[in-house]
Amino acid sequence: DAPSWTETTDVCVIGSGVAGLTCALNLRDAGFHVTVVTKVHIDDGSTRWAQGGVAAVLDPHDSPAAHARDTQIAGVGLCDPAAVEVTVTEGPDRIADLIHTGARFDRYADGSLQLTREGGHRARRIVHAGGDATGAEIQRALHQAVLRDPWIRIIENAMVLDLLTDASGHAAGVSLHILGEGVEHGVGGVEARAVVLATGGMGQIFQSTTNPSVSIGDGVALAMRAGATVTDLEFVQFHPTTLYVGKDHGLLPDGTEGDRQPLVTEAIRGEGAHLLDHSGERFMVGLHELAELAPRDVVAKAATARMRAEGQPHVWLDARHLGRTMLEERFPTVTGSCRALGIDPVTDLIPVAPAAHYASGGVRTDLHGRTTVPGLYAAGEAACTGLHGANRLASNSLLEALVFTRRIADDLAERKPSPGTPEAPEGEGWVCSTTSRAPLQQAMSAGAGVLRSAASLEATAEALTALGDNVSGRPRPATWEATNLLTVATAVTAAAYSRRETRGSHWREDHPGASDDWLGHLHLSISPDGALETTW
Ligand code: SIN
Repeated sequence: DAPSWTETTDVCVIGSGVAGLTCALNLRDAGFHVTVVTKVHIDDGSTRWAQGGVAAVLDPHDSPAAHARDTQIAGVGLCDPAAVEVTVTEGPDRIADLIHTGARFDRYADGSLQLTREGGHRARRIVHAGGDATGAEIQRALHQAVLRDPWIRIIENAMVLDLLTDASGHAAGVSLHILGEGVEHGVGGVEARAVVLATGGMGQIFQSTTNPSVSIGDGVALAMRAGATVTDLEFVQFHPTTLYVGKDHGLLPDGTEGDRQPLVTEAIRGEGAHLLDHSGERFMVGLHELAELAPRDVVAKAATARMRAEGQPHVWLDARHLGRTMLEERFPTVTGSCRALGIDPVTDLIPVAPAAHYASGGVRTDLHGRTTVPGLYAAGEAACTGLHGANRLASNSLLEALVFTRRIADDLAERKPSPGTPEAPEGEGWVCSTTSRAPLQQAMSAGAGVLRSAASLEATAEALTALGDNVSGRPRPATWEATNLLTVATAVTAAAYSRRETRGSHWREDHPGASDDWLGHLHLSISPDGALETTW
């Protein structure tokens, strides 16, 4: 669709979580006018659901080298050392910026920041807010800050469709569809000198996920259609402890949001909670030197293996010994989610199971957030900066967004791209049916979830192909969403099929070990004739 209206800005940022809003604020500091486009409401992304916190070296006994080491161990050989280095060294200043913007982190009586631990961290280095409501506080502070700036324009209820480029192939804006009642065909465009994708994750390609319903990988799909390279898509992180409720967990009470699994933060294990199987055994002890605080992939695999061996749909988290005060004051979100289901963590075991949580891969960027398409940037979960490797270290994601959005603003300030004239989009493209969402999620969880094999991935790929029939008629936002889901799910499945080893969060039952032959990255892109290409 050619845009039927346009507006012009300096930089168009897509997405309004920590990456999108921090990027907008950093770009304003660099002197740019900014338009933020967001699919539903400004606060509807993943950021507000983040519990544990933000990791950074803030304790004099800790060091950037120690943070780098923990990040690299979790990433199982695939972290880009330069991306790790800039993140751990610039992180503390970015936390200071966030505090300056208005975020209120939990502090001790002497005013110093409270620091906790999560899986894979060998030091206390995670700041948190409201106990376990860190993301909500960060989102609140950033939302307030962007509202205060008259040169940040927010367009809500707008689904971004495609990148617009000028004659030289440089990003020159985006086309989008304004959603809402009575808007049948509100296709428009934002012209910009540069575009930043901050669209968050893709957890909704699976049946069971901590991600909200908007997290379908829109940015990755857009980037692929624009010819950008995406990397490490096979490394989907499954959080080991999500509350065993939700649409495929059967216990959903009225009023609970059914499309995402409530998180039971790792920080609760950081403060001493234990994982138990159905015979009461602490199954992580002896499996890893850090027991319940092993990196996330290790715990998710162990929990899945134990669930399988016992024929149970969940394991248990025992937090009873933390006591009422700790549970109610330090973990009010987890305690509230449990109590809403009639489970009191003060006296009861908490049923937990792994669910899709975080895409460690995404749109490939360099250290300045630049993708392989000139003028197109990516940040946050939508991006693959190289920080996470095969498995993101807990609480490094919010940090990465803070560090790299500043780098994007610095890069644009230096380059000062000139305005380009967008060319009319070519061709009609294709869209698939909205009914494909549930079967797509089922196929992905069945064959491309925590456990994968060549056979299961082939079955998933076949099921996805069957969902790809073009639908006729005028496309609607729901059909575009379905199309993005299919694009991303197909790419994740292809990447998972190609990597014939087990590494980090990618678990191949038919190739159970890690191999040095696979110490590298899989890059995917869509060729000009529409074929999905994989390069090594
Ligand atoms: C958690 O609180 O367990 C999640 C933190 C993260 O995903 O980094």
